[in-house]
Amino acid sequence: MTQAPVNVTVTGAAGQIGYALLFRIASGQLLGQDVPVKLRLLEIPQAVKAAEGTAMELDDGAFPLLAGIDIFDDPKQAFEGTNIALLVGARPRSKGMERGDLLEANGGIFKPQGEAINAGAADDIKVLVVGNPANTNALIARSHAPDVPADRFTAMTRLDHNRALAQLSKKLGVPVTEIKKLAIWGNHSATQYPSVQHAEVAGKGVEVDQAWLENDFIPTVAKRGAAIIEARGLSSAASAASAAIDHVYTWVNGTAEGDWTSAGVVSDGSYGVAEGLISSFPVTAKNGKYEIVQGLEIDDFSRARIDASVAELVEERDTVQKLGLI
Ligand code: NAD
Ligand code: LMR
Repeated sequence: MTQAPVNVTVTGAAGQIGYALLFRIASGQLLGQDVPVKLRLLEIPQAVKAAEGTAMELDDGAFPLLAGIDIFDDPKQAFEGTNIALLVGARPRSKGMERGDLLEANGGIFKPQGEAINAGAADDIKVLVVGNPANTNALIARSHAPDVPADRFTAMTRLDHNRALAQLSKKLGVPVTEIKKLAIWGNHSATQYPSVQHAEVAGKGVEVDQAWLENDFIPTVAKRGAAIIEARGLSSAASAASAAIDHVYTWVNGTAEGDWTSAGVVSDGSYGVAEGLISSFPVTAKNGKYEIVQGLEIDDFSRARIDASVAELVEERDTVQKLGLI
C-alpha cells in the first residue's frame, strides 16, 4: 500500500443498505483493489450501538485495505476531511405520511449534512445520495453546501439502470455486458423513464416492440422498488448497495469507451431539464467527473416521459422551497 487511505463517510451505517455496503467498501470494491479506505460511520444516537456491532464485524473481516473505522452521531465530525460521502440514512415513509411530510422530515437530515460537508469535507469530496427521495434530498444537501462545486452532488439511479439492463438482457437473451447506452431519465421514483431509444447490442440498435416497452419493461423497472418491498417485506438493500458501489467506482474510474451509464446529476439545462434540478441523465465519467451525454435526439415518446418525470422533480423542488429547506 503506497497511497494514503481515502476517507469514506457512510450515513445510516447501521441500516440494511449499510450492512450490505460496508463490507464491499472494506474489500476494495468501491475504489479499487489498490486503494486503502478509512470508514467514517454516521448514525443517530439510538443506532450507534448497532453501528458498533457492524464495526466489530468489519474488524473481524481482517480486510487488508481497511485502514480504520470511526463512528459518529454528529455530522460535523463524520464529514470532517471526507473524500467520498454516501448519504444512505434517511427518514422512511411511515403510515399516513404525505410526500410533503417526508420531504420535510428529510430536510432535517440533509440540511445539516450539507452544511457539515460544506464546512469540513476534503476539497475533492464526491457525494452520492441514496436515501429517498434521493434526487430532492441531494438538492437539499447541495443547496447547503455553496462552497462545494455543484457537480460533486449526485443521486443514485444506478440501481434503476442495473434493473433496466437485467430486464433487457432477459428479453433479448444476451448478457448484460453486451448491452450499451441504456438510460434512466428523471426522478428515482415510479415516474422515471428507462429508455432503450439509444440502446445498442453489438453496435446495432435494439428492436423491441412498443407494447412490451410500454406495458412490461418501463413499469417493471420503474416499479421494481415497490415489487421488492412487496416480496421481501423490506426495501431493496443488497442491490441498492451494489448500485452505490457501481456509481462511485464508475465516477472515480470512468466509463468504457462507447458506453455510458445513468446518474442523478445537477442539470445544466440539457434536454430542457430545468437548471439546478438533480435529475437522472445518461452520463459518461472521465477524470473523476460525471458529464451529461450531449446531442442525443429525443423522440416524441421519450420527450413526454422525460417531461413527466421532470415535472415531478419540479414539484418536489417547489415543495422543499416552500418549506424553506433550499
Ligand atoms: P434502514 O431503515 O434499514 O436504515 C436507515 C438507517 O439510517 C437507520 O439505521 C437509521 O438509524 C439511519 N438514520 C436515520 N436518520 C439518520 C441521520 N440523520 N443520520 C445518520 N443516520 C440516520 O433503511 P435502508 O433500507 O438502509 O435504506 C436507506 C435509504 O435508502 C431509504 O431512504 C431507502 O428508501 C433508500 N433507498 C434508495 C434506493 C435508490 O435506488 N436510490 C434504493 C433502495 C433504498
Ligand atoms: C428502490 O428503488 O428499491 C427503493 O428506492 C424503494 C424504496 O421506496 O425504498
